[in-house]
Amino acid sequence: MPQYRRVGDVPAKRHVVHQSPTGRLAEELMGEEGFSGASSLLYHRSSPSAILSAEAIVTPRECPTPNEALRPLHLRLGTFGEAGDPVTGRRSLLGNADLTIAWVHATQSSELYRNAAGDEVAFVAEGRGVLESVFGRLEVGPGDYVVVPASTTHRWVVGAAPMRMLVLEATGHMTIPARYLTPTGQLREGAPYSERDLRGPDEPLTVDGEEVPVLIRHRSGWSRHVHACHPFDVVGWDGCVYPFAFSIGDFEPMVGRLHQPPPVHQTFAGPGFVVCSFVPRLLDFDPDAVRVPYHHANVDSDEVLFYVDGDFTSRKGAGIEPNSLTLHPAGFVHGPQPGSAEAAAGASRTDETAVMVDTFRPLGITPGALGVSDDHYLRSWARPVRP
Ligand SMILES: [Fe+2]
Repeated sequence: MPQYRRVGDVPAKRHVVHQSPTGRLAEELMGEEGFSGASSLLYHRSSPSAILSAEAIVTPRECPTPNEALRPLHLRLGTFGEAGDPVTGRRSLLGNADLTIAWVHATQSSELYRNAAGDEVAFVAEGRGVLESVFGRLEVGPGDYVVVPASTTHRWVVGAAPMRMLVLEATGHMTIPARYLTPTGQLREGAPYSERDLRGPDEPLTVDGEEVPVLIRHRSGWSRHVHACHPFDVVGWDGCVYPFAFSIGDFEPMVGRLHQPPPVHQTFAGPGFVVCSFVPRLLDFDPDAVRVPYHHANVDSDEVLFYVDGDFTSRKGAGIEPNSLTLHPAGFVHGPQPGSAEAAAGASRTDETAVMVDTFRPLGITPGALGVSDDHYLRSWARPVRP
C-alpha cells in the first residue's frame, strides 16, 4: 500500500544470485493477490521455509454473537485490566466476517507472531514500543496507527510503560482511499496526509537463533511453527509491502463553512470497513452553522467510535471518556447529545481525537465486551441526561 521502499543489501536486479559474507541468500517474494498485487522482495540468510514442527493452538479469544436487541453500546475499555502481551493479551470486542476489533492492555513483549488471515492495524492509545519484524524496527507511540501487512513475521516490544491498543484484525488488505491517490499511486495534493507522514523501517534487523517458535493466526485457526533459524535474518528488502506507522496527529483535518460529513475524515479503507480520524480542528465557521453533527441513519453500516482524547463535543454528557468505545448499529438513528448543539453555538474549535470504524456487515459483540458495557448508554439521548 505505501510507496516503494528499499532497505539494506539488495542486488541491482531481481531474481539473480545474491551473496552475503555468510553465503548465498534466499529470496522471498511477499506478494498480495497472487503475483499481481503489491509485493516486497526479501533476502534471507536462511530458508524462510525451514520449519521443524507445526502444532495447532487453541486460543481463549471470544467469538462475537449477533446484536439481536440492536443496542447502541458504550464500552468502557479503560476498565479492562492489564493482560499479557500485545498479541495473546488481546480481548475480542466486536466482529464480523471482515473484521475483528480487539483491545489490549499489554505489560510484556510478545513472542514472534504473524497473522496470515489479513492485515492488522493497531492504534496505540497509550504507551510506547517497537514493532520488530522481518522488515526492521519501527518505533511507535501514542496516536500512531501501526499497519502490519498480512503474513509479516513480527513481535511487539513493549516499552517502560504498558501499551493500550485498539487492534483491527482484517481479513484482507488495508489501502489508502483511492480518491487520495493519483493514477500512478502518489498521494494527491490536498489529501489529508502525504508520503512524508508514513514511517517505515529504515534498516534491517537481524537476530541469530535456532529452533524459534512463531505463533500464526491463519484462515482456519491458530498454529505454532518452530523455525530452524530465526526469521529475523533479512539483510535487505525492497517493495511496497511493509509495516508502517502513521500518527493521527499528522492527519490534516478538512473543515467547512457548514458541517463536513465523516468521509472527509477517512484515513484507510479495509475490506468491508473504513477507518476515519477525528482530530482537533476548527468548527464550522458560518455564524448560523450547527456545530455538532446532525442525527443520521447509516443505513448500510455499523459505526464504531473509539474516543482517544479531548472534549467530545457532540456526545458530552453521555458518559463518554478517553478509552470509551461506542457502537451505533445500522437500524438505530444516532445523533448529538441533547443540548450539545446549543452548548457548541459559540465554540470555534473542538479538541477531540477519535478513531471511527464503519463496517458494512453487522458487528457481533463478545461476552467480554458486554462485561464493560455502560448500562445507561442506551437511554443517553433521552432527557434528562446524566451529568
Ligand atoms: Fe455517526
